[in-house]
This record gives sequence, structure tokens and C-alpha cells, in this order.
Amino acid sequence: MNKLKVRLIALALMFTGAAQADEGMWLLQMMEEQNSIELMQKAGLELNANDLYNPGGVALKDAVGIFGGGCTGEIISGQGLILTNHHCGYESIQQHSSVEHDYLTDGFWAETMEDELPCPGLEFRFIDKIVDVTGIVNDRIQSGQITESESLDYVFLDNLRKELYENSEYKGKPGIVTELLPFYAGNKYYMFYIKVYEDIRMVAAPPSSIGKFGGETDNWMWPRHTCDFSVFRIYANADGEPCEYSEDNVPLKTDKHLTISLGGYEEGDYAMIMGFPGSTSRYLTRSEVEMMMSSENEPRIAIRDARLNVLRDVMAASDKVRIQYASKFASSSNYWKNAIGMNKAIIDNKVLEQKDQQEKDFARFANEQGNDAYKTVVNEIDSHIKEATEMTYLWTCGIETFMAVEFRTPSQLLDELIRAKEAGDEDQFEGAKAKLDVVYDQIHNKDYDHGVDKQVAKAVLPLYAKLAGSSKPDFYDIVENEYKGDYDKFIDDLYARSIFSNRDNLAKFLKKPSEKALNKDLGYRFSKSMSNNLINISAFMAKMEETLAVPHKTYIRGLCEMKQAYENLPSAPDANFTIRLTYGNVKSYDPMDAVHYGYYTTLDGVMEKEDPENPEFVVPDKLKELYAAKDFGQYAMPDGRMPVAFITTNDITGGNSGSPILDSKGRLIGCAFDGNWESLSGDIHFDNDLQRCIGVDIRYVLFIIDKLGGCQRLIDEMTIEN
Ligand code: ARG
Repeated sequence: MNKLKVRLIALALMFTGAAQADEGMWLLQMMEEQNSIELMQKAGLELNANDLYNPGGVALKDAVGIFGGGCTGEIISGQGLILTNHHCGYESIQQHSSVEHDYLTDGFWAETMEDELPCPGLEFRFIDKIVDVTGIVNDRIQSGQITESESLDYVFLDNLRKELYENSEYKGKPGIVTELLPFYAGNKYYMFYIKVYEDIRMVAAPPSSIGKFGGETDNWMWPRHTCDFSVFRIYANADGEPCEYSEDNVPLKTDKHLTISLGGYEEGDYAMIMGFPGSTSRYLTRSEVEMMMSSENEPRIAIRDARLNVLRDVMAASDKVRIQYASKFASSSNYWKNAIGMNKAIIDNKVLEQKDQQEKDFARFANEQGNDAYKTVVNEIDSHIKEATEMTYLWTCGIETFMAVEFRTPSQLLDELIRAKEAGDEDQFEGAKAKLDVVYDQIHNKDYDHGVDKQVAKAVLPLYAKLAGSSKPDFYDIVENEYKGDYDKFIDDLYARSIFSNRDNLAKFLKKPSEKALNKDLGYRFSKSMSNNLINISAFMAKMEETLAVPHKTYIRGLCEMKQAYENLPSAPDANFTIRLTYGNVKSYDPMDAVHYGYYTTLDGVMEKEDPENPEFVVPDKLKELYAAKDFGQYAMPDGRMPVAFITTNDITGGNSGSPILDSKGRLIGCAFDGNWESLSGDIHFDNDLQRCIGVDIRYVLFIIDKLGGCQRLIDEMTIEN
């Protein structure tokens, strides 16, 4: 592209204003550098940079945090009330459920603060401060203290993180954790000071027939009718500082909470989302995309498919098992379906062809720049990927099997016990024994059913052998040599006769522990073989990551420079579970020839989808009554209908679940919970025409809390505008 053309494009951009399309999980701390605020204001934002992110002050950013291990949540009252998705709260709801108190089925509404349920292990994290430390890393490279390759290594970054923390004002403060992370594959580095609250209580959750309406069938799909929300609350000590659960803790008085708008939205309205997208891979080469399809998605689909088929049947047959496995099923199924959709969308949306074009453009750019590193980097990556493909495939097979089959034997701990016995070290022996006791209960936990797990193993272990071929772990020799290839018999024995199969076997072993008994134990041999195999593969994978680190850094720098030069546009770094902002519009789309999808759904659609025969599409009586009476209160649309879900062009991915969808004034209009089927290639390539974020309308959420849950007390805490 010649200079004139570049200038023309730049000119066109100035006139069209929002030509910066909707792609981009932008860094708040780079807003100024990347001129994002101007672009956002052109797109309709009615706020200033400081309203979004204000180091040293309070801004919208301070009302958003990390919920649990992988979701986003936002603060919706001055008393630490958190809104997130139902599927994000699902594990907690499941943990509190039993056949007697089935909150999964019936929902949960705490009538008073005293009824709010503690959730041990659940955390909420606020980002307190973000510091650019790129200069420090680069100085150390330039001064020769480290090589570029070492600078990309976890060990170096972790030591630097500790060093910076030690010298910061945060040292010794309660509840502070830190992270130092590379962005753009190491072309930038930021240090995060994070405040972690660990007394989080469950406040409200709709029945699954509302919060998970449409189930797996509708997952990753639009049009959608799911009220995917749940409500929690942060508790702190009297000073508002994080501390572990205590009856004396009080609701956290939050610095910032979101104002809620009942005003709704129309097609084309500005919408933005702040949250924590987990991972994207927008800078891959074609070879890497192909590897992802064949070595990650394909074996993942196959192994999860086998496990889910077993779980579906046993869960349908028993309420106890249904509750035990609900959360495990949902999380496995979620990325099983995602992997299927992603591989399909990569083909349908011609992502490989787009990658070819990108590599052609890049070759030209490299020549124009006369940059030798750029000229060779794609080839370099390709040749390593060739080497990595087989191992990546085996890694996925191994890890998916390892996650599917929960029964294991702590072989290292058993080794430790035998060593202690042989050395006559009584203390160590007793210590190991006590640890075995704890680990036994961790494996046979309240959500584990030995019989169900055995059935899963029968489905998954033969499949793993088939997929891995001659590279399978060596416990398969036992099946071949000692069981003549009879998997059923082998697995029956593994689950019945191993030391860790049941308490009796463990007790028997502990009476006369010996190396001989260990070496005969099927569970011990199986677990040791599985983990040795994974350790070997992961060593290779770590080495490969190291080899690819510098080429990736080079390629991503080059791609960003190319976008700046050819399109006059900044690039956003790949998602890495740090706080991001995406802006765009409420927008309908056309998924295929002759089909148009509107931008919102209503309660009418819930009734249309109702199917009393299908557990995924049951509508609870109370909702039907409210619908019949049109008892929608202040939450209805001007035409009297009840809005349910809507779509925007925002750029989100897993991790964003639960994120606030904000209007041009920064008011809460919805809660993001999914992406659409047609654009599941979006983590690799953002498609402006197709990619949509699916959110639940805040008016539907409040209607359910108020009219169905009867939790007026929560509505009263919120700041609501019309
Ligand atoms: N696909 C959604 C996400 O990853 C999760 C939806 C959960 N619902 C379900 N039916 N599994 O954010």
C-alpha cells in the first residue's frame, strides 16, 4: 500500500468516526496512549477517561472485579452486592444443594442478610493499581542482566514481581496479591496490585429453569432466553479490610457501585463492557490455527463427548447424582460445545484463508521495512509448530482423560510412606499416613460417585488408547498383558481392588504397607503411569513454549506495526484474564442467507420455547402466572412486554461471563453471559459482521429478583434510574 492510500484511509477514518470496528479488548491503562477515549466518544460514549479509569481516584473500574476462579462480577449496591452470571455462581449453588435443599432446581433467595450463605473458597478480587513496568524489563535486557529469552521466562518475571512488591506501598497490607504479566507476547509488561476478599456469601439465584433456561441446547446460541444471573455479597471486617469468614464480618461498604438504568436500548446504541476475558489467540499463524483445530479441539471433543454421554444418563436416573455432577457436567459441556463450534466456524468463516492473507501482507510489510527478523519469523514459527503438533495432541488426550477420570491414587505419597517405613522414621510415617487419610477424603468427596467414575473410565480409557495409538502411557501394557485387552475387567479390578478403592482396602494396606504391595496395586500403577506420561509431555511443551517465546514477541510486534502503518489503527493485546474494556453497539445480525436475527428477545419467546417434557425448557409455574397477569411492574418495556436478552458487538470471551454491559453514560443495562454460535472462531479471528455478545437485560434480572424471588430488600439497596 502506498503512502497516499494510507493517508486516504486515515482520512476516511476521521470522517466515519467509529470506523474502528468493534474488535478489541482494550487495556484501560493504555486508553490515553491509544487514543481510545476519543474513538469511544465518537462512537457515542458520554463520559471522560477519568470516569472509566482513574488511578488514585474512583471510577467505573472500581465497581468491577474477578468473581471466583474465572468470571467477572460487578458491584450493584453500596453494601458490596455482586451481580454475576448464574453459570458463574453455579458451583456455589451446587455446593449448597442437596436432595433436601435443591437450590439448583428451586433457586435461592436470602430473605435477610443473616440468611446469606458463606461460600468457603470463593473470592472476589478488585484491581487496586496497575503499573507499567515495561521500562524495567527492557533496561535489564539492555544492560545485559538478562537475555531477551530469559526476560520472557516465568522465573524472571516472578522474581521481578516479588522485588517490586517488596519495594511498594502495598507490602504487608492485608489481602493483597500481585501479578506481573506480559502483554503483546512481551512487548509490554504490567504489574497488578489486587485486593482479594474471601468472605463472599450467596444471596440470590433463580431456579435453573430460569437461570439456565435452554440448557446445553441453547448454550452458545442466539436467540436466547436465559436469565443467567446470580447475586452474592462481599463481607469484610469492621475496617472494610479483607479477612477470612467470621460471623462478625459486615457487608463491605464499596467505594463505587453501578447505577442501573431501566431505560433500555435501541439498535445502534452505544454499549461497552468491562471485565476479565480469559484468553484469546488473535495473533496466530495459519499453522498454529490448524494445530489448535486438530491437536486441541478434536481430541477434546472426542473425550468429553464420551464422558458427557455417560454423565447425561446417570444424572437423569438419580437426583443425588444429578446434583453431585451438575457443575462438572456444565463446565465440561461448555467447552466441548465451544470446541465443536469453533472448528466449524473456522471453516465457515474462512479463517485459514484470512490467515494466509495476513501472512502475505506481513511478508510484504517485512520487505518494505527491510526487517530481517520479520521476513523469517513466520517460517520459524511454522517449523516449530510442525514439531509441536503431535505432542500437543498427546497432551490434550492425556489431560482431558486425566480430568474426566477422577479416581486416582496418590503414588508419591505412598512412596513417601514406604520410604519412611524402611528408614524406620516413625514421625514421617505417621505424617504420611495422616496425609493419606486427608487425600482419601478429597478423592471420595461429597460430589464423587465411585460407580459413576468407573463408568466414565470404561468409556474414556479405551478411547484414549485409540486416540494416542503407540504413544499411549505404559499402564495400557497391564491391560494388554495381564487382562488380554479386556478393559471392562481391568477397570472393574482397578475400581474394586486398589488401595484407594475403598476405606477397607486402605486400612488393609496400612496394616502391612510394603513396596511389593504397591507395585502390585493397579491404582498405584495406573496413577503413576498417567502422571509420568503427563510430566514428560509437559516438559516438552514447556521447552516448546520457551523456543517460541521470542518469535511470538517478534511476530506480534510486527503485526501491530503493520496495522498501525496500513490502517492507522492500534491493536489490543490478547486476553490474559486482566481487566479490559470493549465498546461497540447494540446490533442485530444476519447469521445466514435470508435469515435476520433481531437484537433482543422477550418473555414471549420463553413461553414459545416452553416444553414440559424437556428439562432444559421447563417454565416454572410462578413465571407463567406473572406472565399471564402481565405483572412486570416498573421493569416492562414501553410496549408492555418483558425484555429478556440482547446482543451487542462487544468483543468478549470466556472470563467475561458476568461482566456489566454499560450504556453511554456508564449505567448498567445488562450482564454479559455468552457468545453466538456463528462466531465461535472469534477467539482467533474477530468477525465484524457476525460476532455478538449475548447479555441478559437488567430489567429481566430485577423483575425476577423482585417479583419471582420476592427480594424487594435487594432492589431497595440499588441505585436505579429510569
Ligand atoms: N457459554 C457460556 C460461557 O461460556 C456459558 C453458558 C452456561 N450455560 C450452559 N448451558 N452451560 O460463558
